[in-house]
Amino acid sequence: MQKLLIKGKKELSGTISISGSKNATLPILAASILATKVKLNNIPMVKDIFTMLELLKFIGIKVKVQKSNKIIELKNTGTINTLAPYKLVKTMRAGVLVLGPLLTKYKKAKVSLPGGCAIGTRPVDLHLFALKKLGANIKIKDGYIIAEAQKGLNGANIKFSSISVGATENAILAACGAKGRTVLNNCAVEPEILDLISYLKKLNFKIKVSDRKITIIGNKFVSKKINHKVIFDRIEAGTYLVAGALIGEKIIIKQINTKFLKYEVRVLKKAGVKIYKTKNSITIFKSKNLKNLNISTKPFPGFPTDLQAQLMVLMTQIKGISKIKENIFENRFMHVPELKRMGAKIKIKNKTAYISGPTNLTGAEVMATDLRASVCLVLAGLIANNRTIINRIYHLDRGYENLENKLKKCKAQIYRI
Ligand code: UD1
Repeated sequence: MQKLLIKGKKELSGTISISGSKNATLPILAASILATKVKLNNIPMVKDIFTMLELLKFIGIKVKVQKSNKIIELKNTGTINTLAPYKLVKTMRAGVLVLGPLLTKYKKAKVSLPGGCAIGTRPVDLHLFALKKLGANIKIKDGYIIAEAQKGLNGANIKFSSISVGATENAILAACGAKGRTVLNNCAVEPEILDLISYLKKLNFKIKVSDRKITIIGNKFVSKKINHKVIFDRIEAGTYLVAGALIGEKIIIKQINTKFLKYEVRVLKKAGVKIYKTKNSITIFKSKNLKNLNISTKPFPGFPTDLQAQLMVLMTQIKGISKIKENIFENRFMHVPELKRMGAKIKIKNKTAYISGPTNLTGAEVMATDLRASVCLVLAGLIANNRTIINRIYHLDRGYENLENKLKKCKAQIYRI
């Protein structure tokens, strides 16, 4: 099994180009069931994307990938299998996003329940709640969601009891093919959802967003060919921002839109990190005498849960006690025992981690437990004394495109072994 070896304490300098967003691409790929011919640009060539493509192929979508150009072309020829099997949904929850499009276009779908995952139980009750409101009959049998709407879905007023990215996406996708108007309230409005909406608008669906309310007017499925360029990965950008703040002689992050990184930049500035931004780039330097932080993860525009583990590494270098409260997932501190093995001083009480700093981290053999936890160990390895070896890096490959090469270009000593 592959591992990453990092020789720490090497200052980073250089430019990092940010890839397209995995979390925007996944629902857009699912949405392609609603289209006929699609060309997608700026696609991150990471494992989760290929898992979704396998699922689409199984469903009957023709897929062509141009890896080096980061382009994916999809064609729906109309011969569709409305089944998403367990083997293709179990490794990646986003597989459940084919439920809304299949049901609304083909009037039935059988999709495996995605099950739990390391960071929490992650149910799909909110997805199913919205689909039922749109008129779907849904039962759960043998680990599968069996949904049907023989006469098609109908627009409805729906209020989510809590904010969910995936449920908002599934509901939008289903509402596109429903008769009449759907109003979704208390929605997630992550930039990735706005990108999905701009893609769906190209498919002639009428969608309006105001605050947390999304209105969709259902429409016929058009057969024109469309092109779409996926937005940048703000979590990848945030990860390299933390790397820059930790050990950057000078790091320039480009191919981004800083409008979607406001909160992250504000947090880093508040800590005292030297950071300069333009509309499409950020330059960041390692800074001394950082001030402690008190952060809570929240849905966008709040601080993202997907950057919590990375920020925690920066907190180990800040004098005093910093705090992170994890509000989104119940079990998202699994990186903490690994960071502690590297010398970090962290205590967890209820949903909050208390990080005392500054601490000199020392290299160790550690184990990645999920995507963001793995990258936090990479960041820790970059500032640690000696060598850090990270096991189970298949988690990293699910979501970070060319991580080693991007860091190597900035002079990091990081090797896949
Ligand atoms: C998406 C992101 C993930 C990110 C998360 C929160 C993708 C592919 N993944 O995941 O990287 O960490 O948003 O920003 O975009 N919940 C329910 N019932 C449901 C659905 C969710 O209780 O039916 C709960 C979850 O258990 C969790 C919270 O809602 O506690 C938020 O989850 P959600 O926003 O749905 O996350 P995902 O869409 O799975």
